[in-house]
Amino acid sequence: MKKWMQFLVLIGSITSTSVLLASGDMKGGGQLPAVSNVKWKSECSSCHMLYHPGLLPERSWSKMMSGLDQHFGENATLDAATRDEIMRFLALNSADKQDNRRSKRISQSIPATDAPLRITETRYFTSKHDEVSPLTFKRKSIGSASNCIACHKNAEKGDFAESQIRIPR
Ligand code: HEC
Ligand code: HEC
Repeated sequence: MKKWMQFLVLIGSITSTSVLLASGDMKGGGQLPAVSNVKWKSECSSCHMLYHPGLLPERSWSKMMSGLDQHFGENATLDAATRDEIMRFLALNSADKQDNRRSKRISQSIPATDAPLRITETRYFTSKHDEVSPLTFKRKSIGSASNCIACHKNAEKGDFAESQIRIPR
């Protein structure tokens, strides 16, 4: 084989591999990328599970982080430096900054003029869970719809693949 032909074959196989990877990703439901920040992990998981930043747009996180003294009836105030660092992390990985199918859908489900503080109130969430009864969410083993991790064991890693869903009794 001539050198230039080998080159073309090589390029061809690289391209088809990345196409395969991309479609595999789509089949997996286009999971959110694993992201982490030490302060976010310690400060935002003491009262509930960690909510992946890709589940809400930047404007929602921004609104939430500027009202931590009245966070769903709790005082979750942080010192300014910690708050700013967590905010930068959330913004960088927010639904409207992510390049994955799931985040894009979440973003699209929220009107531009809205900045919901609850993932569970987005149209994306309600449409994905319209077959789960309110009574199921209230089970002792679950608590509420906000406790994603009860049914999606890898929720904190941003993995909501259907193959990973298990509803506890
Ligand atoms: C002092 C306790 C506390 C801390 C600390 C805390 N939260 Fe919360 N958070 C709550 C409570 C209480 C709720 C409402 C839970 C419910 O109604 O089920 C909530 C709800 C949420 C929700 C909405 C979940 C839904 O229903 O869709 C998000 C998102 C959230 N918190 C993010 C954060 C982030 C980000 C941090 C860190 C900066 C944080 N929380 C720190 C107490 C806390
Ligand atoms: C009671 C268990 C339960 C809880 C709690 C729960 N979910 Fe789900 N979730 C499901 C089920 C069941 C489905 C699949 C619905 C279907 O296929 O009809 C689903 C589907 C999804 C999907 C779509 C998966 C796909 O690829 O089609 C996403 C994303 C998702 N949930 C995110 C969340 C988030 C975020 C939370 C927390 C804020 C959450 N879920 C809380 C049970 C739950």
